[in-house]
Amino acid sequence: MKPIYLDYNATTPIDPKVSKIICDSINGDDFGNPSSTHAYGKVAKAIVETARQKLAKAINAEPEEIIFTGGGTEASNQAILSTMMSDLTGFLKRLFARKGHMILSAIEHPATYKPAAYLASLGFEITTVGVDRQGLVDPDEIKKDIRKNTKLISIMHSNNEVGTLQPIEKIAEIARSKNILFHSDAAQSTGKVPLDVKQLGIDFLTIAGHKLYAPKGIGALYIRKGSAIGPYIHGAGHESGLRAGTENVHYIAGLGEAAVIATENMAEESKRLTNLRDQLYQGLKKELGDKIVLNGHPTLRLPNTLNVSILGCKGWEILEQTPEIAASTGSACHEGKVLYSAVLCAMLTPRHQAEGALRLTLGRYSTADDVARATDYICKTARKLMT
Ligand SMILES: Cc1ncc(COP(=O)(O)O)c(C=O)c1O
Repeated sequence: MKPIYLDYNATTPIDPKVSKIICDSINGDDFGNPSSTHAYGKVAKAIVETARQKLAKAINAEPEEIIFTGGGTEASNQAILSTMMSDLTGFLKRLFARKGHMILSAIEHPATYKPAAYLASLGFEITTVGVDRQGLVDPDEIKKDIRKNTKLISIMHSNNEVGTLQPIEKIAEIARSKNILFHSDAAQSTGKVPLDVKQLGIDFLTIAGHKLYAPKGIGALYIRKGSAIGPYIHGAGHESGLRAGTENVHYIAGLGEAAVIATENMAEESKRLTNLRDQLYQGLKKELGDKIVLNGHPTLRLPNTLNVSILGCKGWEILEQTPEIAASTGSACHEGKVLYSAVLCAMLTPRHQAEGALRLTLGRYSTADDVARATDYICKTARKLMT
């Protein structure tokens, strides 16, 4: 019997309808290059443009505001590096230009904090704002950190480890009032919670296909019309000159369909997942009482995400000794040294609590039976480890 999959924030299986569209496209006559002007090219181009329309509709964007990328990491790198480097051209200018300032949160995914660290190594000014114990960014903290040369604010829509949802609209309002561009990594939010880029008032939004039942290696960046941003991958003029490289037509078709499926069923699915998530939490609490502590915000949280610490246990030992479930732990033990989750550290989670953390994330194929069985397996291992 296969382990119970509780790791939907790591990646999702491909939805059968998505996989059918991809396979039909690969096996059919749609092998043309979308840049070709003949009939084969036109078919491929139409597939890409249909997918662009579908994805745009899912986040209330205009189709021309979407560019397809090779995943969430590339999308965030483009938003960050292309914005920050936008007015640095030529070696001398790069040396002497006044370098810009960027603000990000302490719980960003490496796809955001690593490009920021790279910029810092080049001499750009970077400010990291902290979060509270539930993983929330305070918009007033961001306001205080704004400088004359702040060019970009990047705050994730929801966190991949604890699921906390950020006050994006408020932060966007602050950014707009100061003429600062605002990027949000919505890799974990897309398809799970409603996203309306117009209402959010943001300039850039990162989407990662494999978090919403499309394949790995495909993603998109929403770029608000008129935003000053250049390409990150340089080459020919694909994707309106903003992302060079012949489009991955088949996966783009899949991502478009995945966006439609997620949007159609979002209200119902979100309710179902919230119930399952809470059932899992209550089940663990019932069995292990105050040994179970929630990490993340109690209500402002992704419907599928439960991050709990089991006090007195190490998360990685629970996972090692419970092969019946497939889940994640933020902290890890490597060559005898405990590596604490940077997200839990930023939330000032006490060390003994961070050590016991388990990230249990549900999705489209999770059932009440999975949750009941997973609860039993986890509790059995935890009791064994506690004795
Ligand atoms: C919040 C967040 N941002 C970005 C990414 C990176 O996306 P990709 O794996 O498509 O590069 C991930 C994937 O784990 C993520 O969880």
